[in-house]
Amino acid sequence: MDKFLMWGGETLRGEVRTSGSKNAVLPILAASLMADTPSTITNCPWLKDVDTMVEILEAMGVRVQRTYEGSLHVDPGPLESHEAPYELVRKMRASIYVLGALLGRFGKAAVSMPGGCVIGPRPIDLHMKGFTELGATIEQRCGYIYADAKELVGREIVLGGPAGSSVGATANVLMAAVKAKGTTVLSSAACEPEIVDLANFLNRMGANVSGAGTPIIMVEGVDELHGVDDYKVIPDRIEAGTFIAATAVTRGTVTIKDAEPAHLRSEIAKAIEAGATVETRNGDIHVDATGGPKAIEVVTQPYPGFPTDLQAQFMAAALRADGMSRFVEKIYPNRFMHVMEFARLGADITMDGNRAIVHGVEHLSGAPIMASDLRASAGLVLAGLAAEGATTIHRVYHIDRGYEDIEEKLGALGAKIKRVKSN
Ligand code: EPZ
Repeated sequence: MDKFLMWGGETLRGEVRTSGSKNAVLPILAASLMADTPSTITNCPWLKDVDTMVEILEAMGVRVQRTYEGSLHVDPGPLESHEAPYELVRKMRASIYVLGALLGRFGKAAVSMPGGCVIGPRPIDLHMKGFTELGATIEQRCGYIYADAKELVGREIVLGGPAGSSVGATANVLMAAVKAKGTTVLSSAACEPEIVDLANFLNRMGANVSGAGTPIIMVEGVDELHGVDDYKVIPDRIEAGTFIAATAVTRGTVTIKDAEPAHLRSEIAKAIEAGATVETRNGDIHVDATGGPKAIEVVTQPYPGFPTDLQAQFMAAALRADGMSRFVEKIYPNRFMHVMEFARLGADITMDGNRAIVHGVEHLSGAPIMASDLRASAGLVLAGLAAEGATTIHRVYHIDRGYEDIEEKLGALGAKIKRVKSN
């Protein structure tokens, strides 16, 4: 297993490019199998999770080619299977997106049940509720979900759960609804930019979706969908937010290029609260954090609230902040695997259920630490940038699932970080 060796204490300076969004491209790739002609999707990040989605499509007979850097050509013509097998689904929960896509296209699907997850329980009841209400029969046996529908019929479906809206259920049910007869109204829908990107892609395929980005999405069912040429995936707001946090952690001055500042309002507000000055121009976000970091209050919420996927990275910024910061995790109450590792670097954090209180310390000192999941790993890398001396981060395969060339990108900004390959 690869590891990162880091030497902290450098101040990040310069420019860094934002890659295409992982969480947008995954449902878009699944949706591409609903067409009867090929699609070309550009600005696809080169990530482990994207490779896994490609493998799932290929296992079903879809032909996928990387035509040039960052672009995927998907030909669903040869698709012959309706099954997503355990060996692939177990690698990534977002594999569940093929369920809605297959159901929409063929009226049947078999997808291995996603397993446990280190960030806490991640039920899929809302996905199943949506499919059932569209008229599908859902059965769970031998670790698989079997979905079957003679005909999908549009209706009003409420998608909210105790933690608010669900991104995955909204995307999944939306894909199936696009081919349902009549009108579907999805209420309490997730408003995340990745949902808007999926809806835009579906509309380019010939679907009739309106209201994406608001809690009420309307879908008029259509009979056919076709492939799309050169669909450009939105920038990855979580990667860009990670660079904002990295700048705050190192008290640096960084311009984040090719981002979408409109998707990052709560993160930019939090960076300002942490003492940074932030300017946005076109797709660039210029962060000057030489004055920080100051203590912050973070409550994770569905979009447009502060994202759970950036909680660990902004906590890394709070570790050396002036004063006491508070973090409340409302999406995944147990998503604090990074806290014990931060403590190994000398952080002062007290936990109380889904709340963490961070008292800023003057110094962190490097130590061996262990990555546990994708975003926690990003938090550890950021803490390693601030810790004095050497930090070794084990199990960095987690970070490779969602960050393209992270060590090259941070290295170009002045970070001392090196990947040690395992044999
Ligand atoms: C998406 O996961 C993201 N993944 C996650 O990013 C992100 O943390 C999460 O949304 C929240 O923003 C992708 O987009 C591939 P949800 P998803 O359904 O869709 C509850 C990363 O690191 N819920 O919006 O699985 C659930 O337990 C990943 O890139 C139900 O109760 O999340 C949670 O509390 C990690 N029943 C809340 O809703 C359901 O059927 C939000 O989950 C579904 C969800």
